Amino acid sequence: MLIAQISDHHIVAPGALAYGRIDSAAMLRHAVSVLNELRPQPSLVICSGDLIENGTSEEYAHFKEIIGVLKMPFLPVMGNHDRRDEFLAAFGSQVQNSSEPFIQYVRPAGDIQIVILDTVTEGSGRPSFCADRARWLDRILGASTCPSFLVTHHPVFPTGIEWMDEDTQEWTSFLSDVVDDHRSSIIGMTSGHIHRAIHTRTFDLATSSCPSTAHQVALDFESPGPIFSQEAPGFQIHRIESGRLTTYTASLERFLSGFDPRQA
Ligand SMILES: [Fe+2]
Ligand SMILES: [Fe+2]
Repeated sequence: MLIAQISDHHIVAPGALAYGRIDSAAMLRHAVSVLNELRPQPSLVICSGDLIENGTSEEYAHFKEIIGVLKMPFLPVMGNHDRRDEFLAAFGSQVQNSSEPFIQYVRPAGDIQIVILDTVTEGSGRPSFCADRARWLDRILGASTCPSFLVTHHPVFPTGIEWMDEDTQEWTSFLSDVVDDHRSSIIGMTSGHIHRAIHTRTFDLATSSCPSTAHQVALDFESPGPIFSQEAPGFQIHRIESGRLTTYTASLERFLSGFDPRQA
């Protein structure tokens, strides 16, 4: 089974540019057109948070207009730029099972389930995962008879990019306790937020993050403050076969420019 992931779209109002220079709407439109051309088509697409920039209903309407062209179902995830009230107004019917006031839900996909988690601290960019959210996850994993793929907006590992990093040991403590209790039924975890593909191991599980469809976070381990880059945006495909998770990262630039080398 194939699951696609795109992330951190940072959609602004129609006609506006994110950060005064990034045409995030055009970039998401391109990402959707690439996903629609994939053969075979993934079963669904995870949109791993920061769907919009400022959390307004106008931005969510703009996001929905663009993503509405996608041929596959999509799973929206709460990011720190999202707002729970506007998110629910936009996607309420898609996120039943939610652990209110947090937006956590489950979707079956083939012989696994995808568990969408909410790591947002309302009004803050800092991640959190409290006892209430952990209890919900414990219940969901305990009740399931199939493997789970967990999705968070914030990476659950230290990224090494200092200005973006949070103390993961501190904010993931409730999460790691639940994962410890259910590790054998979890095939891996993925995230967004860091606007860059990173692959590592956390909680003794394969963990990764997905590039943004818009701007990337510069690969600079020492910058004391924010630096974005306009390198190529990307997406990921998670291939799940016989309980093995394999993650592919691909560029959205020139993705559809394949050629046959025998015809050179
Ligand atoms: Fe983001
Ligand atoms: Fe974020």
